Amino acid sequence: MELSNIKVPNHVAIIMDGNGRWAKKRFLPRIAGHKEGMNTVKKITIAASDLGVKVLTLYAFSTENWSRPQSEVSYLMGLPSKFFDTFVPDLIKNNVKVVVLGDVSQLPDNTRIAVRNAINDTSSCTGMILAFALNYGARQDILNAVNYLIEHHQGESVSFQELSQSLSTGILAPYNDPDLVIRTSGEQRLSNFLSYESAYSELYFTDTKWPDFTAQDLIEAFNDYSSRQRRFGGITEETE
Ligand code: IPE
Ligand code: IPE
Ligand code: MG
Repeated sequence: MELSNIKVPNHVAIIMDGNGRWAKKRFLPRIAGHKEGMNTVKKITIAASDLGVKVLTLYAFSTENWSRPQSEVSYLMGLPSKFFDTFVPDLIKNNVKVVVLGDVSQLPDNTRIAVRNAINDTSSCTGMILAFALNYGARQDILNAVNYLIEHHQGESVSFQELSQSLSTGILAPYNDPDLVIRTSGEQRLSNFLSYESAYSELYFTDTKWPDFTAQDLIEAFNDYSSRQRRFGGITEETE
């Protein structure tokens, strides 16, 4: 594949799905899939940064994932500290800045502290933004924004700009909206991820399960993205 012909999206958002099925296929417990998935996060973060992605958003835990068995939820809540304990030096070396989307106030103390430390330790990095969607749900996020705006606007109407900035993706400006949304594992739905921001995103689905997803697969997704014509409701030379 000719890397020089590839259009690299500014904001890539990934629904990292298929960890459980990856493990099941190997007769391993679901958490083994999450553990391997964490290694994929490390590889894909560095690959995306090397390719020149500006914002990489990773859907790590949804507002609906609390409904999983307590033992799995508890393992998932332990992953951020496992991940950051070993990986923050690499993030700093690669100039990657960590931010979080979603409601961190509901996370267990040690998870919240691990996330807060990673945010602080990388706060002066100026390269790619790595945004973890953690206890994130698009509907909850929109509801929070609406309530915030009701409180601060005293009955005045709100602009798209203000609504965008009030969502948790406001911190990603000017790259609030993903250019490309990737979902692994073969499911073709958004599962409450960036519903508002993905209004004009290109969607890419692959059967590959997240623990098996490689830098080469990311390049393959970018290659596919490069062939898309984004029209945003208008017309382009090809469709004239
Ligand atoms: C994605 O993998 C990780 C999280 C949702 C936290 P899953 O755990 O959903 O894996 P499958 O979909 O059951 O295979
Ligand atoms: C979406 O995956 C959430 C994350 C990847 C964190 P799910 O596995 O929770 O989604 P559904 O239940 O298949 O829609
Ligand atoms: Mg899943």
